Amino acid sequence: MVSQAAHANEDSRQALLSVADLDAGYPGTGAVLRGLDLELFAGERLLITGPNGAGKSSLLQTLVGLMPMRRGALYFHGVRCASDEDFALLRRKVALVFQDPDDQLFCPTVLDDLMFGPLNLGQSPAQARSLAQAVLARLGLSRLAGRVTHALSGGEKRLISLACVLTMQPEVLLLDEPSNALDDENWQRLVAILLDLELPMILVSHDQALQAALATRILRLVDGRLRALAEPKSVQDQRRDQAFASAQTAAAGG
Ligand SMILES: Nc1ncnc2c1ncn2[C@@H]1O[C@H](COP(=O)(O)OP(=O)(O)OP(=O)(O)O)[C@@H](O)[C@H]1O
Ligand SMILES: [Mg+2]
Repeated sequence: MVSQAAHANEDSRQALLSVADLDAGYPGTGAVLRGLDLELFAGERLLITGPNGAGKSSLLQTLVGLMPMRRGALYFHGVRCASDEDFALLRRKVALVFQDPDDQLFCPTVLDDLMFGPLNLGQSPAQARSLAQAVLARLGLSRLAGRVTHALSGGEKRLISLACVLTMQPEVLLLDEPSNALDDENWQRLVAILLDLELPMILVSHDQALQAALATRILRLVDGRLRALAEPKSVQDQRRDQAFASAQTAAAGG
């Protein structure tokens, strides 16, 4: 009931990021994405799942213009993005954390990697350093600042990839398998960070615990298109369940 009302409300709002009738694929191959429609609304943490090779990473790359569209249209705040310049501007606002951190990180040290984006946007070295340090502190990762990036562990690289895109102060986050390689403590840290950010995001993941902890809506990518999966509990439902459980514990004298 709650979710139907939420969807009716979404329908009357403009999507933040959307694609319509999207076809995309790699040179010399058939289309990986075929007639795909997607809308991300403010306040959503949309989770996309689907089999290996279904095209989930390709979709995220298409959303930021790193993979060309063969057909279809992409809109950000209702404005169509088509040219390379449009997508360059879009990438300042819509940040992709790659599935493979080695695609994201390429500087000698962690601090260099975090400063790269802000420096590229014209900030002074002092400003970029201070922003990078603030992001590392917020994520509890300051101890990694001086480390050689390529010598980080897999889980550390994943968290530093997220830190890198946060230095760009994005409006929308696209996260490709963000919980891969994380131990329990860093998994919890990731969930806490993503909840705390309060940013609209698209998460690609097979991780059911991540799905339960974060998703406000779940879609499955199959045969080049997205299909709605059984409605997840809305954030309101989860809060209500938690409140109910607390009330029961209190009533039982616990
Ligand atoms: N650079 C490339 N050139 C040609 N084909 C590619 C390329 N990258 C990916 N593909 C193919 O495109 C399809 C979709 O790949 P993609 O990486 O988007 O899948 P995925 O859903 O993210 O899979 P996974 O769950 O394994 O990460 C696959 O069949 C893959 O082999
Ligand atoms: Mg992938």
